[in-house]
Amino acid sequence: MIGVFKPMKMGVCTDIRLLCGGLCLMLSSVVHASEINIYSYRQPFLIKPILDAFEQQSGIQVNVVYVRKALVRRLEVEGDQSVADLVLTADIGPLYALKQARLIQPVKSPVLRRNIPVKYRDADSQWFGLTSRSRIIYTSTLRLAADAVGRYEELADRRWQGRVCSRSGKHKYMLSLISSLILANGETATEQWLRDVKANLARRPGGNDRAQIKAISDGVCDIALANSYYFGKILTNERKPEQQVWAKAVRLVFPNQDDRGAHMNISGIALSRYAPHKDAAIQLMEYLSSEQAQFMYAQSNFEFPVREGTPRAELIETYMGEFKEDERPLGQIAARRQQALALVEKVGFDD
Ligand SMILES: [Fe+2]
Repeated sequence: MIGVFKPMKMGVCTDIRLLCGGLCLMLSSVVHASEINIYSYRQPFLIKPILDAFEQQSGIQVNVVYVRKALVRRLEVEGDQSVADLVLTADIGPLYALKQARLIQPVKSPVLRRNIPVKYRDADSQWFGLTSRSRIIYTSTLRLAADAVGRYEELADRRWQGRVCSRSGKHKYMLSLISSLILANGETATEQWLRDVKANLARRPGGNDRAQIKAISDGVCDIALANSYYFGKILTNERKPEQQVWAKAVRLVFPNQDDRGAHMNISGIALSRYAPHKDAAIQLMEYLSSEQAQFMYAQSNFEFPVREGTPRAELIETYMGEFKEDERPLGQIAARRQQALALVEKVGFDD
């Protein structure tokens, strides 16, 4: 059999070496013309239908390794022996880190340039956003008026003492938001913002985004930060219907609509530096920016398609409508990530 390497079909295993022992490294130089290997931070169920559609149309087999953490380190260790063609991430952070570590390469594709707006792709064409999401403010419908909070900056107001919930300031979603505040307001003002928000917290930072929404529903706090798509996920959660109750307790506030717009993040893709199936991988990247794939991809997780003119999920139209996005390039925001982490540690946000 040519190209014996078979990482796995659609993310069953999280570690290639676990699956095939030492054989992978030996076999990785065997290039099978009609397959692509993806290392993915995105969960298999989100991408499977789209990749299935691509396989059907192109005849190219797509293998996915679902990675939970340390993707950058893994590609570093594997070096030019890596079988990875593409990396899929759920945040700008890893894409920026991969570029800094020289583990991805530019893709000069007129199709990607046309389909993906400038703000959602790297200036050097090394990473590309596929879906976007906003980190928004959730407020209690029961205890707060609709116009009680309108800007990220207002979370620092004294009047919200003991009424704000947040996950760890070191989580990638928080670091992106804090980076955007540094870009907008400067480092000194953002340090003060972090101190003041910390002073307003109802409890120590912790839990995931859903836990912040639940905390509002439980009456622990009145204001929280979480990504926009979680609203769709909990509102439609039939496996855990209690989450639908949380969704009904909150209002979605897209912040800073009268100034720079709501902070946006992306799920994205990049071509690995040593991609063994480069041409096929670029073909898949271009497919993912097509209208059909954009619609399916964004719909699967209640995210926003990055390609202009692509219809959004019905639930998004109903609950989120149109809003003003922060238009500053995500690359400029990601460049402030280390600064953001240093501030979080300096003010002891999580302590
Ligand atoms: Fe998420």
